[in-house]
Amino acid sequence: MPIFTPHIAIDLGTVSVLVYVQGKGIVLQEPSVVAISEDGDKTTIVEVGRAAKEMYGRTPEQIEVMRPLRDGVIADYFVTQGMLEYFISKASGSLRLRKPEVMITHPYGITSVERRAIREAAMAAGARDPVHLISKPLAAAIGAGLPIGTPSGNMVVDLGGGSTEAAVVAMNGIVCAESVRVGGVHLDEAIISYIRKKYNLVIGEPTAEAIKIKIGAAADLDEGTTMQVQGRDQVAGLPKTITISTSEVVEAISEPLQAIINVARSVLAKTPPELSSDIIDRGMVLTGGGALLREIDTVLTRETGVPAYMADNPIACTALGAGKALAELPILQRSIPDL
Ligand SMILES: Nc1ncnc2c1ncn2[C@@H]1O[C@H](COP(=O)(O)OP(=O)(O)OP(=O)(O)O)[C@@H](O)[C@H]1O
Ligand SMILES: [Mg+2]
Repeated sequence: MPIFTPHIAIDLGTVSVLVYVQGKGIVLQEPSVVAISEDGDKTTIVEVGRAAKEMYGRTPEQIEVMRPLRDGVIADYFVTQGMLEYFISKASGSLRLRKPEVMITHPYGITSVERRAIREAAMAAGARDPVHLISKPLAAAIGAGLPIGTPSGNMVVDLGGGSTEAAVVAMNGIVCAESVRVGGVHLDEAIISYIRKKYNLVIGEPTAEAIKIKIGAAADLDEGTTMQVQGRDQVAGLPKTITISTSEVVEAISEPLQAIINVARSVLAKTPPELSSDIIDRGMVLTGGGALLREIDTVLTRETGVPAYMADNPIACTALGAGKALAELPILQRSIPDL
């Protein structure tokens, strides 16, 4: 009787982790957040994922709620390993007869040291050696259903929380790509600093993200709305409420948004002329949570001259693509030997 080996693909994001199990699909989606307690040199993991996120801003002083990934790469090795261990064992469940075969996503263009850190953290977390790695834009393109195996060029822009990745893919590989460590988290930070400067009001990250999702947009909307925001007055030190509008959010995020747009532009500038006409015909597909920002498709279309459209279920694309890539490993390894 063959021994069962689980096949697991993990989209290791800055903001959320999605886990795909072959034969089951996406089995979990949780924030990439960990609550730790520090006692001298000893760090203990208290909670992982959703439970840890719920503790944000409400913890006793010895507990810290943190994101072990920053800008798409590992910022804290020990905590990332603990988080992976938790997700791998949760996803393997009772099927954990053998070490799982694991595929993990990473930003395009990371260093060999950063790649090694991901591999080692995954192995220490219980994954079988070798751990497979796939770049986020390639995984996103596969997950969005683009015909990556054909000679025609297809373009994807993955708008994540910690990084934005744009790529043109053809013949099962990346023809050209760009990555910038700017994403949704940086839009939130820009909202925080805008509100602090304009209203002397201090708000936290979850509030800034809620503003972006509720009333934010990449360009002004005819039907723009307003939202009441509570925070702490920087001068008086007391709670205060202000009203903020869509156009203020558009203004607040304009700088990091420009960096995001520039990634798409520079990939187009690098695209070989033979593929440019395919891209103009087919457009670019947007994946990642940032694809849900209102008007982002319109702004990218306007700024690049290439029609941009949102993928179905944009937040799941990278995990789905990594899962499919794991299933088709021998075919893909012919064009991407280090997968
Ligand atoms: N409706 C929405 N409007 C705007 N932004 C959104 C919306 N929904 C989610 N986001 C943003 O999408 C980002 C998360 O996207 P995603 O889950 O693709 O990131 P990630 O994969 O964890 O990050 P990365 O791939 O960069 O490491 C967050 O910054 C979140 O605020
Ligand atoms: Mg992502």
